[in-house]
Amino acid sequence: MPSRAWSDPLGEELYIGLMSGTSLDGVDGALCAFTADGRWIGVRRHAALPFEPALRAALAGLQQPGPDEIHRAALAANALAEVYAQVVQRLLEGLSPSSVRAIGTHGQTIRHRPGLFDGTGYTTQINQPALLAERCRIDVIADFRSRDVAAGGQGAPLVPPFHAAIFGNGDPALPPRAVVNIGGISNLTLLSPGKPPRGFDCGPGNALLDHWAQRHLGQPYDAQGAWSAGGQVATALLQALLSEPYFASPPPKSTGRDLFHPEWLHWHLGAQRSACAAQDVQATLCELTAAAIANDLARHAPSTRELLVCGGGALNDDLMRRLGQRLPGCCVLGTAERGLPPLQVEAAAFAWLARQHCHRQAASLPEVTGALGPRILGACYPA
Ligand SMILES: Nc1ncnc2c1ncn2[C@@H]1O[C@H](COP(=O)(O)OP(=O)(O)OP(=O)(O)O)[C@@H](O)[C@H]1O
Ligand SMILES: [Mg+2]
Repeated sequence: MPSRAWSDPLGEELYIGLMSGTSLDGVDGALCAFTADGRWIGVRRHAALPFEPALRAALAGLQQPGPDEIHRAALAANALAEVYAQVVQRLLEGLSPSSVRAIGTHGQTIRHRPGLFDGTGYTTQINQPALLAERCRIDVIADFRSRDVAAGGQGAPLVPPFHAAIFGNGDPALPPRAVVNIGGISNLTLLSPGKPPRGFDCGPGNALLDHWAQRHLGQPYDAQGAWSAGGQVATALLQALLSEPYFASPPPKSTGRDLFHPEWLHWHLGAQRSACAAQDVQATLCELTAAAIANDLARHAPSTRELLVCGGGALNDDLMRRLGQRLPGCCVLGTAERGLPPLQVEAAAFAWLARQHCHRQAASLPEVTGALGPRILGACYPA
């Protein structure tokens, strides 16, 4: 068999994962190593680039229907591929493209409306994998969600099997663990030794917090949650937000900006707006994110003793404090404490998903997404 350039002398395979999530903050990339038989070794390099304001505005403008959106989506996808290519160049510094087996790229979600078996479901990530392959000369794997939706699933979350591979604890003597990724939306993975992982989207993560901070602080986000920490939770508003039926609906379930958009917040704020200071709304939104996660743990995995937090929300000290308060019997930690920094986890998951595709291995868990069965996810754009 001819030797493959992407398998290094130690027999490792290298993959790149690229994630740009619902926060619309930018792109995280991770160069990841796996053993030849597929065991995780680790992140070799991480690189991140924020979106320029014009691209961020273009992506935000595509989150709801508007004029000329096909043209605008095509231009935004081209611009997105150029940012992805820049992240790949940073990850490759000093390495040949042929040393990487494939790039897994999520694309940017602009609609997420899965429908279970009724023919109305779809999920749309704009992406330009052909352009990325042209720029990088590496196989590009893209469009990871649509096959699961075609099989009747939610197409999300896709990360629970990766969370299980990295953070799963096979020792049945140890108590169950959970992983929560707090990006624009938050999603939870429940890991009980000896059982398949479970998982679903909890609800808003940072998306509404960012919206409110941008509007009132003029900053992309409330750094470390310093502003929300000084506010008072508005109990009536929190109850109104938590009355959203999504929170109590049973898995399989996933959500996005389609539901938890600024108008959803403004509609609930309604009459209460004049009674709430802006800082108190920020505190309430932070509490909402923590409450949704804690309520889901109480409902679906009450024996969880360790909650590992990844995504940008792990850097929000006020959010981490509120999670800790709501989960007194549970140790709340950033994933760095278990070997993988919070901002690298989701990008690394897309490296794992690319590897699964290249080895023709199913990556979806029907127990999580509700699909008819596990499926090989993604489509390949050769180098
Ligand atoms: N220092 C910080 N303090 C508070 N919040 C932070 C900090 N750094 C990042 N964040 C929050 O994290 C968000 C970015 O997180 P992340 O990149 O994980 O989300 P995402 O792009 O939506 O990803 P995904 O959809 O994969 O979960 C920012 O928009 C911000 O809200
Ligand atoms: Mg991000």
